[in-house]
Amino acid sequence: MTELSAWLAEHRSGGRLFFGPGRVNLIGDHTDYNGGLVMPFAVDMGVYLSSAAASSWQFHSAGYPDVAYRSGDSIQGLPDWARYVAGVISLAEARFGPLPPQKLSFFSNLPTGAGLSSSAALQMAVLSCLLEMNQLDMSVADKARLGKQVENDIIGVPSGIMDQFISAGGVVGSALQLDCATLEYQAVALAHADYQLLVVDSAQPRTLAASGYRDRVAECASALAALQQIKPASHLVAYQLSDLDAAQLTDSQYKRAKHVIVENGLVDATAAALAADDWLAAGECLNQSHRSLRDDYQSSHLRVDELLAICAQQPGFVGGRITGGGFGGCTVQMVKANALETFIASVSEQYRSQTGLEAHFYPVSASAGARELSQ
Ligand code: GLA
Repeated sequence: MTELSAWLAEHRSGGRLFFGPGRVNLIGDHTDYNGGLVMPFAVDMGVYLSSAAASSWQFHSAGYPDVAYRSGDSIQGLPDWARYVAGVISLAEARFGPLPPQKLSFFSNLPTGAGLSSSAALQMAVLSCLLEMNQLDMSVADKARLGKQVENDIIGVPSGIMDQFISAGGVVGSALQLDCATLEYQAVALAHADYQLLVVDSAQPRTLAASGYRDRVAECASALAALQQIKPASHLVAYQLSDLDAAQLTDSQYKRAKHVIVENGLVDATAAALAADDWLAAGECLNQSHRSLRDDYQSSHLRVDELLAICAQQPGFVGGRITGGGFGGCTVQMVKANALETFIASVSEQYRSQTGLEAHFYPVSASAGARELSQ
């Protein structure tokens, strides 16, 4: 019996069950907070939540001390994971009025700290539970806005809206091409009999992820301010590469803005390649995106670069890139389905002998957004 099935067996009869998925971003990183395009998909790993009526809010997660919370209490003193939970409750109560307290028990089968957005999974599991238990409704965009507000204002990370949007609105078999300025989106079919999507975790913890992320957000804001001197626009993605030469940019402002503009174009190119069923062309977009993140955005990590270099030498490799916030963690790759087994065995062995690290491999497919699970 896996840990998950043991947890489900224990909680199945005790209350209602909910699930918030983690996400993989196929392409379009560090574009969301620059008003650009992203193309994430939800996966079937995520946060499970069992909810039962209680006299006050209680949060329970195996391996952590239990947390008691009363509506209106300060959230700042709680442990990190519980701040996400209490933050969602508090913003949902601000919108809908007081909600009856629950005992919430959590289980996650996402690799931790790997960049598959366990925090959005946690937030959307809680929100879907609060809405279903109280017969309330919110649009996907509003759910995502609420989650982003928790992340920005309560946790204090200046993230974009991608992770919460896809965890709330994931579609089976498709990635979503989302315009983060308007929140308009279209589903892009993401399944092919000849190819497998594979997440490979470098096992390199995402060191500097929080501070590096903050620095990049600030660098983009300052690049935008410099570009606005030559031409008004509200987002970096509105500029062309040729505008960068006309503006007075520092070297790092230039590189960050270049990445954002190039990456935004690559999202469109990937959507076009997938629509044409051309996974080789889509894979090349992923490779180009990785080079841009590595060289211009400088949000990769040496270990992740080494991992991708090993992957690129294997038969069956189609394309791959670091995914999510970066600075370590996971890659997303496209691999020929008939080469998958030997690909995993060779990469695992070569990466171990080169770095001493144990890579983890997760074949994935696009799955549904946060939801109640049938009993
Ligand atoms: C993190 C953030 C997202 C997004 C990605 C990078 O996952 O939470 O909003 O900015 O990094 O694309």
